[in-house]
Amino acid sequence: MSLSGVEVSKHDSKDSCWVVIHGKVYDVTEFLPEHPGGMRIILKYAGKDATAEFDPIHPPDTLDKYLDQSKHLGPVDMSTVAKVEEEVDPEEAERQQRIADKPPLSQCFNLMDFESVAKKVMKKVAWGYYSSAADDEITLRENHEAFHRIWFRPKILVNVKEVDFSSTMLGTKVDIPFYVTATALGKLGHPEGEVVLTRAARKHNVIQMIPTLASCSFDEIMDAAEGDQVQWLQLYVNSDRAITERIVKHAEKRGCKGLFITVDAPQLGRREKDMRSRFTDKGSNVQSGQDTDTSQGAARAISSFIDPSLSWDDIPWFQSITKMPIVLKGVQRVEDVLRAVEAGVQGVVLSNHGGRQLEFAPSAVEVLAETMPVLRAQGLEKKIEVYIDGGVRRATDILKALCLGAKGVGIGRPFLYAMSAYGLEGVDRAMRLLKDEMEMNMRLIGCTSVDQLNPSLVDVRNLGSHVTGVPADHLGRKVYDTLAIPAFKTPKAKL
Ligand code: LAC
Repeated sequence: MSLSGVEVSKHDSKDSCWVVIHGKVYDVTEFLPEHPGGMRIILKYAGKDATAEFDPIHPPDTLDKYLDQSKHLGPVDMSTVAKVEEEVDPEEAERQQRIADKPPLSQCFNLMDFESVAKKVMKKVAWGYYSSAADDEITLRENHEAFHRIWFRPKILVNVKEVDFSSTMLGTKVDIPFYVTATALGKLGHPEGEVVLTRAARKHNVIQMIPTLASCSFDEIMDAAEGDQVQWLQLYVNSDRAITERIVKHAEKRGCKGLFITVDAPQLGRREKDMRSRFTDKGSNVQSGQDTDTSQGAARAISSFIDPSLSWDDIPWFQSITKMPIVLKGVQRVEDVLRAVEAGVQGVVLSNHGGRQLEFAPSAVEVLAETMPVLRAQGLEKKIEVYIDGGVRRATDILKALCLGAKGVGIGRPFLYAMSAYGLEGVDRAMRLLKDEMEMNMRLIGCTSVDQLNPSLVDVRNLGSHVTGVPADHLGRKVYDTLAIPAFKTPKAKL
């Protein structure tokens, strides 16, 4: 028998708090203090339907995993459930108009085009979360700009009629050496979330890295894969290692082919676009004195479980609980690459987390250029696979990384933007554009296969020295009140 909306609506306070999600009632009274996103946001929906708020931020198996079955109170007659009055957002009508007016997909000719459309058609909260990065976003911009300091030294008069840019990553054959890297909260951008990326990855035969903080459940993303499609798992290590062990073992059992442990995020960075967006206004529990400070935006709200005590000492434990190849994601200096080789892991991703963590962490491509000669000098370059991510927008960026010695590159935000603006077709087109660019540029630098790419094909003399300067400090410039100079007594006109 169904509960009635009237009954549910009586449980609308801290003392007794029920919420409706997808037509079912849950008693979350005891869970309130434990909610990683804080208590206030749940209380906003106490006695009401919380589905729309819940969905983008929680994988659908969250309630089964974290709320005792005795608190699952069963179905409710939805026609009797009170609706939450959402404040009318005057900007929403304008956004709907922009969606109606959006350029046809055929007008997107490169990855940046998707970003420009996404910025205008995405909800502010979603754009704020995806696009934000640490502090002044200098590392974010540097990630992309660093590629512009590398130039090619192309070969000519090579027969480039047939070009093959397929490659292998952790033993898996891929059509092109990029993978869809892990990014959180896919449903902020698209109602179906990460499975859209799974389908596009399948179509183009590239690997998808499944994020710990996905909007879809891990199993949904695995289930969306077809045939022999390969997926990896990105892992945020939980302070409760039993939970981490369960996740890792489950991923291996389900057929994941790589474990990418994030090592650059003992605490999630401060991202001001995210903090400023309305994510925090509703339900921010700053005043309620909760530990989880949702005023820090989506990132903080979803990440309080991450264990800042994770260290090199934990690596053998990971090696003992899984046979999946282990890759450290977020390595930022040569010394740590060498340490990773010593630790016996199979790979590293040189990355600064899309500029979202430490501001002034160097771009991955710069660290790559520094790392590979050291690995070669020590005869270690075959001992470990080196990947990079951050700022990749063109096939020439991929080629530069490969010439320097990367096995492949991760691409994150561009596919989220393509998905948010145009769904699966958008991601499909983004991947196709990269393949087209890749084929042409392989020809133009005079290589017919990935194994021919080598450091002699790039000029990195400008790379390390920041000779072209770091990206501009826009925020600083906007607010800077210039210093006055000593004034002469003489009136201006007479000077
Ligand atoms: C982020 C995390 C969740 O960068 O990876 O927001």
